Amino acid sequence: MGKFQVISHPLIEHKLSILRRTTTSTKDFRELVNEIAMLMGYEVCRDLPLEDVEIETPITKTIQKQLTGKKLAIVPILRAGIGMVDGLLSLIPAAKVGHIGMYRDEETLTPVEYLVKLPDDIARRQILLVDPMLATGGSAILGVDSLKKRGASHIKFVSLVAAPEGVKALQEAHPDVDIYTAALDEKLNENGYIVPGLGDAGDRLFGTK
Ligand code: PRP
Ligand code: URA
Repeated sequence: MGKFQVISHPLIEHKLSILRRTTTSTKDFRELVNEIAMLMGYEVCRDLPLEDVEIETPITKTIQKQLTGKKLAIVPILRAGIGMVDGLLSLIPAAKVGHIGMYRDEETLTPVEYLVKLPDDIARRQILLVDPMLATGGSAILGVDSLKKRGASHIKFVSLVAAPEGVKALQEAHPDVDIYTAALDEKLNENGYIVPGLGDAGDRLFGTK
């Protein structure tokens, strides 16, 4: 079974509380999503492999560390995942960025995929699949399906707010995927929204409602 980790830190919890508030503006919401993603990225990248490298300081030659292993790709699930990309890129500026577009059918809550655009070498990359909301888990599962269909095998899923139902569904569908979230909320409501949650992440991020 992959890892499931709630990344808790006072700064993350504080920013998440502001994010959840109905009164938070689109501008602040956008900034906070990026800031939280960046803070989470520090922990999500904790197990990246290092290798020894000889370097020369102004004083002497020395053996130090540098990142090695698979190159990274950040893949946001559109729309809301886009809000997390810049925050993560500020930590991993050389990462490639792919996009998977999908929306939930409002009646059935089933995700519908409408776009997949990934780096050519996606199968060889360590992937951070990002979406602020893990609700029923349908979108995350379809996102991982889509990546695996194209040969990817090293996938971490990063969300800001998760429902227990979504975590369970994603773990059952893709037990090899590590799941990170900033908060594990109480439940889903009858409309498939996370409680207490933060509402519709895409609409709040882009100001569309
Ligand atoms: C939201 C969110 C996730 C999905 C999570 O997207 O950004 O992608 O719902 O729900 P699930 O776990 O039940 O699949 P939405 O369908 O509202 O599309 P949007 O990002 O374009 O607004
Ligand atoms: N998608 C959202 O944007 N919010 C939720 O609470 C659930 C799914």
